[in-house]
Amino acid sequence: MSSLKSLIQIKDLTPAQIKSVFSLARDFKNHTYQVSERPQVVALVFFEASTRTRMSFEMAALRTGRKTILFDTGKGTSLEKGESFVDTMMNIASMGPDLLVVRAPDELDLLKVSQKISIPILNAGWGKKEHPTQALLDMITLLGKRAGDLKQERLLFVGDVKHSRVVGSHIQLSQILNYEIGFCGPSEFMPQSDEASSNQYSKIKYFNKLEEGLNWATSLMLLRVQKERHAASFNLEDYMQNYSLDAERLKRLKKDQWILHPGPVNQGVEMSEVAYSDERSLILEQVSNGVAVRAALLNYFLET
Ligand code: NCD
Repeated sequence: MSSLKSLIQIKDLTPAQIKSVFSLARDFKNHTYQVSERPQVVALVFFEASTRTRMSFEMAALRTGRKTILFDTGKGTSLEKGESFVDTMMNIASMGPDLLVVRAPDELDLLKVSQKISIPILNAGWGKKEHPTQALLDMITLLGKRAGDLKQERLLFVGDVKHSRVVGSHIQLSQILNYEIGFCGPSEFMPQSDEASSNQYSKIKYFNKLEEGLNWATSLMLLRVQKERHAASFNLEDYMQNYSLDAERLKRLKKDQWILHPGPVNQGVEMSEVAYSDERSLILEQVSNGVAVRAALLNYFLET
């Protein structure tokens, strides 16, 4: 068992551990990875909807010789009878899986639960807080395009920054891997002033106009408008006019200005179909790398 018990936040990982995980992920891509000989079981516990994260964790478990059990958003389970998230997790852990992969709402305190459960927990998206495996897969994707060197990288997040757990993990990871971060979007999508004035936001560049952001950035991470986390409605037409990566804006990108998106994409809103299928779009490569990073994490937590 690795000395590291769980991965809840990026800061649970040291730079050396991130390097090891990336190296195991590259082994996976080269088909030189370790297959578990013991019949280990990974419990996938998803309290919120997921396609990529859930299925890539499952794929990673199966490819590394493991089995999975699944709790899928709670429909038809005792959550409907009033059982709490914490009790649900404690009960699943008591069934004896070797590791828990959990997607949790903000109100479930994953840090606290991880103290009570003796097996490793991997955060598969926690409310608006963090999504560490997504940030890791994003950066292994960009490292592959930059010959392993991110020193000149300026990654611009476009859109719903405030509600994005992916951004939460990139703020931490950028400090370890040394890339710069910028935010671009309407003011209601930017972090609130108390948050924005905290130390960890101090190096972030803000752009109200997409054109200015595009001039600064070496790559873009387009973010989905998280309608399910919005209290008030907002004008989608205005948003698309000002921030969508449409065919015109696409023409102005440089040859190696990469386009990323954690998915799911709202086609036509964050980007046009032509941008989605452009040769600079790394969106499906991110998904493939997601399996590799998650396989690496399973091997790291269960075998090393
Ligand atoms: C993201 C998530 O769930 O945080 N998607 C993902 O895991 N690939 C982003 C989103 O839902 O918009």
